[in-house]
Amino acid sequence: MERVLIIGAAGQLGSELTQALANIYGGDNTIATDINPQSLEKLDFCKTSVLDVMDKNAVRKLVKEENVKQIYHLAAVLSATGEKNPLFAWHLNMESLLFILELAKEEKLDKIYWPSSIAVFGPNTPKVNTPQYCVKEPNTVYGISKQAGERWCEYYFQKFGVDVRSLRYPGLIGYKSLPGGGTTDYAVDIYHKAIAGEHFVSFLSEDTYLPMMYMPDAIKATLDLMHAPKEKVLIRSSYNLSAMTFSPKEIFESIKTHYPDFTISYQPDFRQAIADSWPDSIDDSKAREHWGWKHAYDLEKMTGDILKHLPSYSF
Ligand code: SER
Repeated sequence: MERVLIIGAAGQLGSELTQALANIYGGDNTIATDINPQSLEKLDFCKTSVLDVMDKNAVRKLVKEENVKQIYHLAAVLSATGEKNPLFAWHLNMESLLFILELAKEEKLDKIYWPSSIAVFGPNTPKVNTPQYCVKEPNTVYGISKQAGERWCEYYFQKFGVDVRSLRYPGLIGYKSLPGGGTTDYAVDIYHKAIAGEHFVSFLSEDTYLPMMYMPDAIKATLDLMHAPKEKVLIRSSYNLSAMTFSPKEIFESIKTHYPDFTISYQPDFRQAIADSWPDSIDDSKAREHWGWKHAYDLEKMTGDILKHLPSYSF
């Protein structure tokens, strides 16, 4: 079995993807790394190591010593956090990607996974059923770094044959990790408030539609793409990916059918402008055509599943 390295393994996506990878490759062949030592404790079903992706020597050493063949590079500063420290977000998101691509080229690694996002789109992008190819012009530093990153991924594939694969995730919603500084993370927080019996204050207005996806679908999409035969992966920047779209009002209503006393109010803040610059919905027909992508969860099914599991989940 190939050795797989996950960088940023304890984050929102990482914690669930690492479990799925360990199930496939085995705990001994799955190396979960994160900058935060404490967060690695819950990943005790595989190998773990504290790692700062900006420490190039340490990353290189680990890749060589452990004979790593695939890297899932998930460490990044997300949209809302990025706006608070734009230069740091740019530095971390871009430097780390360029280094991993360079390492893949030098060490002839088999495959690299790097997540992109709906944040690559901007105010001049068509908002409904946003196509794969269209005007981007992102206006957050996170989005700018993702767009530039996509170009670098395609460049390394075309010029050096690095087998790098990527998805433009919509807002990801899971119950196994806490909100992580993203604009779409209100849709994670809202479930926590509902089961705690608290009032929810939404930082987005009631009718702000954003593309969203339940974590099991995101994990499935990632593994489907990574396991697709090379000739089926025809887009080497990043694939549009979609499952559902909803507003704060609609997710509130879906939770209220389970928790009738749940209440919400709306106090849009700086994140409203970020959300307004992103699409309402995404056309992901290329992913469906090229490697057979199919989602399983809509809003109702997701809410039912989260409210079933979250109350007894321990962090
Ligand atoms: N979920 C991310 C964010 O809101 C977008 O990719 O920052």
